[in-house]
Amino acid sequence: MPKFAYINNKYVKFKDVNIHIEDRGLQFSDSVYEVIKIINKKLLDLDFHFNRLKYSTGELSFNFIINKKKLHKIFTKLITMNSLTNGTIYVQITRGIQPREHAYKKNLKPNLIIYTAKKKYNLPNQNFRGYKAITYPDIRWGRPDIKTTSLLANILAASFASKQGAYESIFFKGNKITEASHSNVWIIKKNQIITHPANKEILRGVTRTVLINLIKSLGLILKEKAFTLKELYIANEVFITSSGSLITPIIQVDKIKINNGKIGPITKSLALSFYKAII
Ligand code: PDD
Repeated sequence: MPKFAYINNKYVKFKDVNIHIEDRGLQFSDSVYEVIKIINKKLLDLDFHFNRLKYSTGELSFNFIINKKKLHKIFTKLITMNSLTNGTIYVQITRGIQPREHAYKKNLKPNLIIYTAKKKYNLPNQNFRGYKAITYPDIRWGRPDIKTTSLLANILAASFASKQGAYESIFFKGNKITEASHSNVWIIKKNQIITHPANKEILRGVTRTVLINLIKSLGLILKEKAFTLKELYIANEVFITSSGSLITPIIQVDKIKINNGKIGPITKSLALSFYKAII
């Protein structure tokens, strides 16, 4: 548990934090969020997170203007106050408080909640681990490109995975793979690195964007196109990306072993290049 959180212009003891029972984030999941990596006390990819926060609040017409400088200052202070070296910053913006009614009133005052969490990352230079994933139907609403806290389908999928000892739940829609419950999914097919295009069917992951830039700079072959469940099962390598998992190898999907259940060479070398680029 962190020592301090930040709520609406105040740093408060984590155990003393209060949220109004008619906050629309609590009652309707009428709220958006970001999870930002901190590695060796360094905040990573902030601009990408700010841009996505702007996109999410904009798509939902929140009455919130992002002050990057102010947010950056709060993050830095919380990292110090909570003595954090490796972990994440969690930022949530709710639409605000109003007597319970589905339709929102104009000009509500958003609530800004920020806190930190410790995390041990799966790093390619230290006991790099591959994990099992399962597949699960993508039953989410039609706008997973908006990073809202309305995540029930993701929660059911992740819990189903967890009960089976799997690390992630990979979503399929028809016979196409979209992404996973809390990460983006990639396959390697021969020398091609393939991931779903960043349209309205997936979240445009920040880690995904950073990795795409890296893949291009390394001159490797990238294809942003949907792939099928069958292509997932017979892929040479599979991995997922997110701010919590960085690049994490998937070595089994359902009952099928990928690359004989071993971390593949391209995943390992991408993870090493990625790690070198961010630290
Ligand atoms: N999840 N897709 C989904 C559905 C996600 O929830 C996430 C991140 C990603 C990867 O995005 P990024 O690379 O920006 O972290 C893709 C965060 C970590 C979470 O919900 O905790």
